[in-house]
Amino acid sequence: MQYKTELLTSSEEDIKKAAEIISGGGIVGMPTETVYGLAADAENAEAVAEIFKAKGRPQDNPLIVHIGDIADFEKYAKNVPETAYKLAEKFCPGPLTMVLPKRDRIPDVTSAGLDTVGIRMPSHKAALALIRTSGKAVAAPSANLSGSPSPTSAAHVMNDMNGKIPAVIDGGDCPVGVESTVIAFEDGKIRLLRPGFVSAEELSEFAEVIIDRHITEAAESGERVLSPGMKYKHYSPKANVTIIEGNGTDYIKFVNSHSGEGVYAMPFDSDESYCEIPCIPYGDSSEEQAARLFAALRKFDELGAKQVYARCPLKNGVGLAVYNRLLRAAGFEIISV
Ligand code: TXA
Ligand code: MG
Repeated sequence: MQYKTELLTSSEEDIKKAAEIISGGGIVGMPTETVYGLAADAENAEAVAEIFKAKGRPQDNPLIVHIGDIADFEKYAKNVPETAYKLAEKFCPGPLTMVLPKRDRIPDVTSAGLDTVGIRMPSHKAALALIRTSGKAVAAPSANLSGSPSPTSAAHVMNDMNGKIPAVIDGGDCPVGVESTVIAFEDGKIRLLRPGFVSAEELSEFAEVIIDRHITEAAESGERVLSPGMKYKHYSPKANVTIIEGNGTDYIKFVNSHSGEGVYAMPFDSDESYCEIPCIPYGDSSEEQAARLFAALRKFDELGAKQVYARCPLKNGVGLAVYNRLLRAAGFEIISV
């Protein structure tokens, strides 16, 4: 179906309009503190199937269910471990998704046939207002076309979804900029499936944290991964992205000796003045880099970049999330200098 995609604000009136789309089985582009999502009623199998179509998403990749109240964890999940409640107290609402045994009310299409469901309570005001006004939990993957960088502004969503969905709520730029931290529980431990703003270091105050090896290693073809999203090439602009690992001086030396048509650098802000080739810097701190990474990757497409040399971020705290997304954008291509 072709839509004339409406750009809504987060006014009460517009949220009501968006909530009616959700309760009527439609899809809304929804701002969250992490990235924009494509939201539909999580319990409506047909509505959720439309999300997969709009994104071109593989059927075996489950969606996160977004709730408007901490008490709703119990409504969609069972056998919730004690640690999950402690984490919820500290991090919900916020950028943390917990994978838990699902209740039957979650249809198979939402969980991609798994017997678990990823649940999170977003902290963005417009997202909470939409969920609460619609009276529905919403399934929402990132609002990009499958394989493209996640959208961190309403303009990014329009770029990918114009004509494919009825409406997008413009809630401004997403402050976190990378998708939520995804965790599962096993034998009293926390398994980190996807790094995000809630870091492994913070989680380790609650239980031992196992960092799933697919966070930093490519899955072999056909290999079973615990979080299906981890096996796809992802977050990718059209340009070839290469990560350059080394100190600032060596990075600058490398990029300045690799100029060419369509070649760009993605340095830290503090490197910018030394870059002799065109560049889009993406911040100095890990938090800034998280907030600006996807916008920078999208900008390279607009510029028609063919090759991007990205300076390798730090790998601790939120930096691990930045590194994980960049690794996938680069198809795991790293050059050490
Ligand atoms: O921040 C976010 O999480 C954003 C915003 C919109 O909330 N959403 C998001 O959704 O990033 P998506 O669909 O792009 O990524 C969800 C990730 C995928 O890697 C998926 O495989 C994993 O979470 N996931 C979801 N449910 C799961 C489950 N039951 N078991 C394992 N992994 C799961
Ligand atoms: Mg995604």
